Amino acid sequence: MATIERGGVLLFLKRWLRAPLSTGAVVPSGRRLAAAMARATLAASAGRPGPVIELGAGTGEVTKALLAAGIAPERLVLIERDPAFATFLRQNFAGLTIIQGDAADLPRLLADNGIDRIAAVVSSLPLLSLPAEIVAGIVRGIFETLPRGGGMVQFTYGPRPPVPLVLREELRLHGTASRRIWLNVPPAVVWTFTRPDAA
Ligand SMILES: C[S@@+](CC[C@H](N)C(=O)[O-])C[C@H]1O[C@@H](n2cnc3c(N)ncnc32)[C@H](O)[C@@H]1O
Repeated sequence: MATIERGGVLLFLKRWLRAPLSTGAVVPSGRRLAAAMARATLAASAGRPGPVIELGAGTGEVTKALLAAGIAPERLVLIERDPAFATFLRQNFAGLTIIQGDAADLPRLLADNGIDRIAAVVSSLPLLSLPAEIVAGIVRGIFETLPRGGGMVQFTYGPRPPVPLVLREELRLHGTASRRIWLNVPPAVVWTFTRPDAA
């Protein structure tokens, strides 16, 4: 496991040097942040049938925490755009569905893989460093695929919610935040966005 972790950190650094904006961080998420993402995802998916979709899985730090929190491997679908990360994930996580693709194509990627009902979405996508129209396309796609009441979990290093106000208003999203995880580098907050049944 230590070798996998070292390999993952090195790969992360290399991909960040090649594509800093879309990689979004120099190193993978820390253990405490990953565990907080997993707790929020467990809560968002409780009692909801179907797979849990992880967007921007990178080297699988959040994936490991989701598995450790009890989400079954066959229920996890990872979507990662970077081919080097997708290969790393396939080599290190057996029994999960790993799709190399763009989160902006989420509805099509799910349809192509025969997935029509999902339980929750957990995203580590670097929303703050992506252009506004790309973020809008990704978030609209997520809420097109999530049933009413379903949740999108997303962390941010920033002081504000990672889904911009204009989109939260358009989609009538309700957001709740965790406490800031000060021991992550940099400190982060985990948000859960839902579109209430009555919206
Ligand atoms: C900040 S890293 C998070 C990696 C990992 N989940 C973690 O927490 O350590 C963001 C990840 O999102 C991926 N990514 C960026 N844009 C993407 C997109 N449009 N579709 C799918 N993955 C994307 C990057 O390649 C990278 O793996």
